[in-house]
Amino acid sequence: MIAEYFKSKKIVITAGPTYEKIDPVRFIGNYSTGKMGYAIAEELAKLGSEVHLVSGPTALKVQNPSIKLYPVESALQMYDACVNLFPDCDIAIMSAAVADYRPKYYQDVKIKKNEEDLMIHLVKNPDILSALGHAKKSNQIVIGFALETHNELEHAMDKLQRKQADAIVLNSLNDPGAGFKHSTNKISIILKKGTIFEFPLKEKTEVAIDILNCIAENLA
Ligand code: C5P
Repeated sequence: MIAEYFKSKKIVITAGPTYEKIDPVRFIGNYSTGKMGYAIAEELAKLGSEVHLVSGPTALKVQNPSIKLYPVESALQMYDACVNLFPDCDIAIMSAAVADYRPKYYQDVKIKKNEEDLMIHLVKNPDILSALGHAKKSNQIVIGFALETHNELEHAMDKLQRKQADAIVLNSLNDPGAGFKHSTNKISIILKKGTIFEFPLKEKTEVAIDILNCIAENLA
């Protein structure tokens, strides 16, 4: 079922962190490694999907030569790439840890440490998942991720509604072995209609298969 469903589907996936430039040597980033998104991309490529992987800066390499990689650095670049790709895609899987804010002004010379206090004015980045969720047609599926530290389910439900996603993959920073830096993850998947699926701690490659099975069985 899963192989048949994903064969020849066109899929856009985001992965990794974004870097938001402050000056030529500094940026605002986060600890995302991109492992979850890359694992999903590799699994889909094996199943015969046409995979478009929009990746923030990461040390990972794409293994399957059929995966089309779009390396980006900032949230704005990631947004542009996704908005261009999405209209022709069947599914969007937004697993990147996108920076919520970017510096309003880029300093084109290195900031010197002259002041005791330094303020960096930040402005909000566009929300890629929300943009695709609101643009999606009835034959398109949009999946988001949520990493929460408290009231996980409540926040994930709220995200699902607000961003008009079909499902949210929730991982909690409170679960040992889940989230950033680990090769394992422990997820729950929450569907738009309210159904919740819980999974035990697994390698991210196996988690990728659980996510794809869940899409094929419940959203196809
Ligand atoms: O609101 P929060 O950042 O927790 O939402 C997480 C989900 O939204 C992830 O799927 C992430 O990839 C996506 N997101 C996005 N663009 C943003 C912020 C988050 O696509 N600017």
